[in-house]
Amino acid sequence: MLVAKHTHYYLYNILPESATLYFVRFFKEYHFENMEINSVKRGFASDNNAGVHPDVLKEILAVNKGHTIGYGSDIYTDQAKTLFREYLGESAEIFFVFNGTAANVLGLSGVMRPWNSVITASSSHIEQDECGAPEKFTGCKVLTVDTSNGKITIDLLEKHMHGFDFEHHSQPKVISITQASEMGTVYTVKEIQKISEFAHDYNMLLHMDGARLANASVALNLPFKTFTTDAGVDVLSFGGTKNGMMLGEAVCFLKPGLSENFKYIRKQGMQLASKMRFISAQYIAYFKNDLWKKCASHSNSMATALNDKIKNIKGLKVTQPVQSNGIFVIIPRIVAEKVMSEYFFYPWNERTSEYRLMTSWDTTEEDINGFVELLKKELKNTQ
Ligand SMILES: Cc1ncc(COP(=O)(O)O)c(C=O)c1O
Repeated sequence: MLVAKHTHYYLYNILPESATLYFVRFFKEYHFENMEINSVKRGFASDNNAGVHPDVLKEILAVNKGHTIGYGSDIYTDQAKTLFREYLGESAEIFFVFNGTAANVLGLSGVMRPWNSVITASSSHIEQDECGAPEKFTGCKVLTVDTSNGKITIDLLEKHMHGFDFEHHSQPKVISITQASEMGTVYTVKEIQKISEFAHDYNMLLHMDGARLANASVALNLPFKTFTTDAGVDVLSFGGTKNGMMLGEAVCFLKPGLSENFKYIRKQGMQLASKMRFISAQYIAYFKNDLWKKCASHSNSMATALNDKIKNIKGLKVTQPVQSNGIFVIIPRIVAEKVMSEYFFYPWNERTSEYRLMTSWDTTEEDINGFVELLKKELKNTQ
């Protein structure tokens, strides 16, 4: 139930009740009538909507022979972890989990106690899209800062820097940033370094949600290690699902000593895969022949191509710099609704009629051309 699953996606946080009602009406009246459930229509809704890269499937098949020991004590998991360490540094400790929410929540659980708080952008996945799982599983408070572009700055953090050592106040312990951010923007190495120094000065840690880490690496043209381990990130959620994998993300502890009890936390968190080799195999494929880079380069360049075609169209306004694989654009609602009958994508902010377009590893030029043609046609029809 693709559509139903995401009925409320991305709007809820910023919307007054009336807008939420609009959104529900929109999906009920418009989408359910105009889209077949399980339709194979292509679009720009999410990089999660793309399929699995054939090389990943091939690797899954390649490890599907004989018996191996379960729960990660197999040669493929060893191999995958070795590859991770080549990218993140020798002291990185890697734990596979099933999905990105688990990577974030359990990674935070590993370094927080229930009296702590984590500070994050109000648009972040841990704040908006994890159904309160960080609060539930860590027992901690999530504190937010509002950003215009999804990126946290030191100035924004200052308001939460108080109450240390005071037993009446939750103790700030982690700053969590998302790279690439939920708004498609990308932190520079300097920006990350600044935040990590700030965090460490307060005896806090820096967590990075890297669901789209490959897109950020390509955007920065830098190896993963440069803007994670070397920039002072302590805990990293390393994603692959949005970039050609089927499932499986990695919690990476980049600072020695942080993973001490994590094996118990993962098991209690129900994220220890018995047949782990099938997650590991995907990461082997991901790193082999730079598949991660090919996929992310493609989706980023498709976003640039799409942006180039729409940014100067009268009646549209691109609202964020296009730095990875997301484009945020204001489209007249009536036009967007028409285009959505052919190409699926999500509203981001109904009040401003802003929509989110995501490209993925399998976006084609035909997708872009067909979408832009239709957009232009519908814009013309309204003039
Ligand atoms: C920024 C970010 N972090 C994490 C995730 C992972 O979430 P999931 O639990 O759906 O794999 C997503 C997926 O939408 C995301 O956009």
